[in-house]
Amino acid sequence: MKRRIFLKNAGIAAAGMAVTPFSNLLARPADAKVRMGMIGVGLRGQNHLELLLRRNDVEVVGICDVSDRMLTSAKGIVTKSGKKMPEIFTGDNYAWKTMLEKTKLDGIVIATPWEWHKDMIIGTIESGIKYVYSEVMIGITLEDHWDVVKAAEKNKAHVMMLENVCYRRDVMAVLNMVRQGIFGEMIHLQGGYQHDLREVKFNDGVNAYGHGVEFGEKGFSEAHWRTEHSVHRNGDLYPTHGIGPIAQYANINHGNRFLSLCSFSTKARGLHNHIVKQGGENHPNAKVNFKLGDVVTTSINCANGETILLQHDTNLPRPYSLGFRVQGTEGLWMDVNKSIYVQDKSAKAHQWDEAKEWLDKYDHPLWVRWSKETEGAGHGGMDFFVIHGFIESIKRKTNTPMDVYDAAAWSSITPLSEKSIELGNQTVEVPDFTSGQWMYRKPTFSMTDDY
Ligand SMILES: NC(=O)c1ccc[n+]([C@@H]2O[C@H](COP(=O)([O-])OP(=O)(O)OC[C@H]3O[C@@H](n4cnc5c(N)ncnc54)[C@H](O)[C@@H]3O)[C@@H](O)[C@H]2O)c1
Repeated sequence: MKRRIFLKNAGIAAAGMAVTPFSNLLARPADAKVRMGMIGVGLRGQNHLELLLRRNDVEVVGICDVSDRMLTSAKGIVTKSGKKMPEIFTGDNYAWKTMLEKTKLDGIVIATPWEWHKDMIIGTIESGIKYVYSEVMIGITLEDHWDVVKAAEKNKAHVMMLENVCYRRDVMAVLNMVRQGIFGEMIHLQGGYQHDLREVKFNDGVNAYGHGVEFGEKGFSEAHWRTEHSVHRNGDLYPTHGIGPIAQYANINHGNRFLSLCSFSTKARGLHNHIVKQGGENHPNAKVNFKLGDVVTTSINCANGETILLQHDTNLPRPYSLGFRVQGTEGLWMDVNKSIYVQDKSAKAHQWDEAKEWLDKYDHPLWVRWSKETEGAGHGGMDFFVIHGFIESIKRKTNTPMDVYDAAAWSSITPLSEKSIELGNQTVEVPDFTSGQWMYRKPTFSMTDDY
């Protein structure tokens, strides 16, 4: 589909893409490389590093991490790429501040444990850098989320949370269908994070996956920090892969907003059972009480009358699925059974069509244009688009495809769901981080085939 036709079909003015007061209007030489720094080059940061090094318009000039092992792997990736070795900053938990002081950077990638994101985002913004690319979750408490929004507003900085699932090919084809009205008016949306993480939350301290039942000091990579959140917190701890795409379908913060939510949690069995099965009932970790319920469900109510059902399910045996359901007045898509039904258009009444033919027909223009470049990029190619969107925004000095308000709305579901559960499943209000601007903001995510 040609770009112009897509915009027309989307029925949304291109003005939504225009430069806003956030933009820095300083001109930049056309051939200047984007100077990037990285905080955190663990397993995820190394994926980002590889993608950045692939680009000819980027120079990675600084890398910070506290782990020698992760730094050695990251340096190996740089050497293999043939690019110049960035300056390395390490030694203590605040070495990133030294990197911000000593290196001239256009943008930064943060891929550290969740509990560091808020301080690192705000510290980066306050150092004068205008573009921050943070891995998912921008804070722990609700207040953290407000702090990040206020810091971005005060310093006119762009904070893009790296929600890669928004760019999944089927997710984007469905976005294209939603924008063209194929499903009618949006009524109900479902999604979540349904991923058996037992071999991520525990390992032997050496291998990342599939061995051992250690965590904390004795764990490696995410087992080193993420598991503690399952010990101490009960809520939807990882909402953004589900809610990001749903928010695009429902135009959240762009003509619609979340109003309130209510969460329920089951008992916690999966992690304990895994430890006993793999490590024996005498393993010290068999005594740990995990606070995180095995399945946490959250219902969200939106200003325009849609409902959303989110699920967080990471402790039990199950195949991976984000469980999307996008339902409108004319039909629906469900990703688990890879099916679509559209009234009067599907082959047979009351029977599913294979989703594939619809998804191929409505392939999003971004994927049509860039699919070759996505080859080899992580998570089926979608990781290419997140980095691409971020770097192109820096080069053009425009807003990022997903902004600080999106990040705050999606990531704050965690503390809000914790609060709802703590209050005996009470419905809690979702704050309006845009301070009323949601009524006027036009959809801007992936409106063209550019980025
Ligand atoms: N979007 C996705 O698909 C996806 C996939 C995996 C992970 N993630 C996210 O990426 C982030 C990182 O996860 P990961 O899997 O790489 O974890 P990891 O444990 O492998 O890496 C984290 C890195 O941060 C470093 N670090 C910790 N404290 C630091 C500090 N003070 N200064 C500098 N470095 C510090 C650690 O040494 C480690 O190398 C998390 O937010 C996670 O949720 C996202």
